[in-house]
Order: sequence, then C-alpha cells, then structure tokens
Amino acid sequence: MSLLTVSTVAELREYVHNAKFKGLSVGFVPTMGNLHAGHMRLIKQAGKQCDVVIASIFVNPLQFNDQSDLTNYPRTLEQDQTLLEDNGCNLLFAPTVEEMYPNGQESQSIVSVPDVSMGLCGGSRPGHFDGVATVVTKLFNMVQADKAFLGEKDFQQLAVIRKMVADLSIPVSVVGVATERNTEGLALSSRNNYLSANELALAPAIFKALQDVATAIQQGNDFATTLDETQQRLNQQGFKVDYLALCRSSDLKPATADDDKLVVLVAAFLGSARLIDNLPFPLNRTTD
Ligand code: PAF
Repeated sequence: MSLLTVSTVAELREYVHNAKFKGLSVGFVPTMGNLHAGHMRLIKQAGKQCDVVIASIFVNPLQFNDQSDLTNYPRTLEQDQTLLEDNGCNLLFAPTVEEMYPNGQESQSIVSVPDVSMGLCGGSRPGHFDGVATVVTKLFNMVQADKAFLGEKDFQQLAVIRKMVADLSIPVSVVGVATERNTEGLALSSRNNYLSANELALAPAIFKALQDVATAIQQGNDFATTLDETQQRLNQQGFKVDYLALCRSSDLKPATADDDKLVVLVAAFLGSARLIDNLPFPLNRTTD
C-alpha cells in the first residue's frame, strides 16, 4: 500500500475518522524526520500492534534551545517518505510550523511536566521538555491514536511523555520500543550524521561505558566512584561528558542502594554532536 502524505490537521482528522469508522486501530509514531532504522523499528512495532500506522515529521522549534541546532537539523522528507512507505506506514502527517502553531509560538499554551523533566537533559537544555510535552500533547490530540510508539533511546523523554499522558488523562497508551544499535553498539540517532569517520569509530565507547557502569554497580561497587571514574575515562577518550548519572528507572530520581531497577544515562559531546544513550539494568542484591 502506498504512503499518503498530508500537511493539515483537517486532512489528518478525516483520515483517522474514516479508519476508526471502519473499526481499525490506529498506531502513531511522532518523529522529527531524518529517519533511520531506529525509527523503522517503531513503525514496524506499530504495524504489529495496530491496523493503521501514522507517522508525523515535524521539526518542533519549541523544543530547541539553540537556534543554530534548529536551523541545521537535517530535513530529508523524500528519503523519509520512501523509508516510511517501505516499512508499512500508511499516513505521514508533515505539517508546517504555522499549521502546528497557528496563533504563533510566543502565545502558545505550554505543557510542563514537573519532576521528571528536571535534571539530565532537562538541566542542560532549559525548556526542552516543555517544548516536547507541548508538541506531543498537540500531536496526540490531533491524531487520537490508540497507541503511540516512542524509542527508549530518549529515556527521559519517554518518562516525561508517560507522566504527561497519566497526569492529563490523555487517552492513548504509550509503548516504549528498545533502542536500535549498530553492530558496534552505537545507538542510532540523527545526530550521528554530525560525526566524522574518526568520531564514528570512537562513538561506540559511550555504550561500552554504560555497560561497564552497570557491571560495576551490579558487582557492588560504589555509585559515585564508578560514575566519576567512567566519566574521567570518557573525557580522556575524547568525549566531553555533559552528564553521566545513575537513576531509579521509574521516575529518574537519583538511585539509592535500596532501588532495584536502575538506569545509567549519559549525554556527551563528540566533536559537534551531542550524543545521548542509556542502559536500564536490575540491581540484584545478595541477601547474605
Ligand atoms: O523524539 C523526537 O523525535 C521528538 O522529541 C518528538 C517526540 C517527535 C517531539 O518533537
């Protein structure tokens, strides 16, 4: 089946209305485009769980706190359409900024998700998660899907969206999808396009560092020492670590020895690219 692309909310609503009228379930994958195999994992998962798959491509100005990052964000619509079609997406919603923010961005009502938006990427990118929560609320209201599929690679974003959906009683069920990695372990990301060949060869060290932290913590090593040593090692290897943190995976509060489900999260610059990754892991304590 061929992919249909629409750019207005009215066309999107009509499509969804017709699908629901036929009794079809709707899966939704929000994206900012420049799609890769990580996004296709979301599309395929949506296709497995729902009758109709809708994707959106919108480079959301509200979530960029750096104007040049917004300007330079890769926009590859035709290539994205081909990938979506090849992977079974039925409808692409690709609105303009005016369609998404018809009353202008300045006077836009903002959705702010407390606690889980603080710290980590929220600390380094002020306002970022307000921008994400606002656009995702709008997209969820526009699409009215049964299920929304989001990558676990953006672990904090997923936590923000889950809390937002629960707090605001948005009628969609959020499905987290495992991170797609290349054969060396590097998490797939549009930001990898900014890496030189040398940087691309070095970049998988970030996931290796997360694995090392998880192993060290599971072996009973001290949290702070493990994080300090790992951060120093990454910096020596050529990264500029923004944060390396060990959190409770349920709410991203700093991990304590009493927690059993942890996640180690990292953001680090490599050249001009800011890479993020994470690794959830259990803390199985021995009882003796
Ligand atoms: O993860 C992304 O691509 C974006 O943050 C999202 C969820 C599409 C909102 O703009």
